[in-house]
Amino acid sequence: MREIVIAGNWKMNTTPFEGAMLARKVAELLSAGNGATVVTVVVCPPATHLAMAQAGIASVTTESGVKVELGAQNAHWEHKGAFTGEISASMLKFIGCRWVIIGHSERRQWFGETDETANKRLLRVIRNGLRPIFCIGETLEEREADRAFEVIERQLKIGLDGVENIGRGGLVIAYEPVWAIGTGHTATPEQAQEAHQFIRSQLSEQFSEEAAAATVIQYGGSMTPDNAGQLMACPDVDGGLVGGASLKADSFSAIVKAAAEAKGRG
Ligand code: PGA
Repeated sequence: MREIVIAGNWKMNTTPFEGAMLARKVAELLSAGNGATVVTVVVCPPATHLAMAQAGIASVTTESGVKVELGAQNAHWEHKGAFTGEISASMLKFIGCRWVIIGHSERRQWFGETDETANKRLLRVIRNGLRPIFCIGETLEEREADRAFEVIERQLKIGLDGVENIGRGGLVIAYEPVWAIGTGHTATPEQAQEAHQFIRSQLSEQFSEEAAAATVIQYGGSMTPDNAGQLMACPDVDGGLVGGASLKADSFSAIVKAAAEAKGRG
């Protein structure tokens, strides 16, 4: 049975205080209502809010035993040095992060991130004992030109170059078709399943069948409480990377619940 991972990508939203409250509320709702015991739940606030969000989560976790884990939205490939504006994986680990999003399409689109730089960041995150959520996915133009699989294949080949092991408890892949991010145009369950199945077959070629079968592949792109159940019912969809809907504790926790139910573990 594969792990289910639902992660909230807050992007550049919330004030530190709102962030702490949101993280706390997520933990509270999960302890009251559910899915939380079978789903690994992660929140990824802006870097400035990580410590406060951690405190918000910790205050609930201690009482209920429900775990919400902390993630960052990026990490540099070097341990330290003259890299103005960057944050290292070891710094993130030090303040309690267990996860780091790597290669998000917004990083690729606006900040010059490439397959190669994403690969370097990913390797460092793994070396530091953190779990990467490695984002891949095609643009609308690429899909319309029938190049989606070619793009995914390239992103996986370069992005995972040098990775020794994948599988249970390791890296997570987030399939995020760029045309679905923040647009309200969610991929259909058929489109998601087709892409996820392709990704798993690529992982099987690059690593091994067992490792591919144990790797969590999340869907991302306008996931909401209304469509999460259908997407999560697909056999190769093992979780979600949630943007907009993760900014409200009730919609985010509803997605966690829907995910658990869709996998028959609710
Ligand atoms: P969205 O964002 O859910 O707002 O589409 C997903 C993401 O960018 O990770």
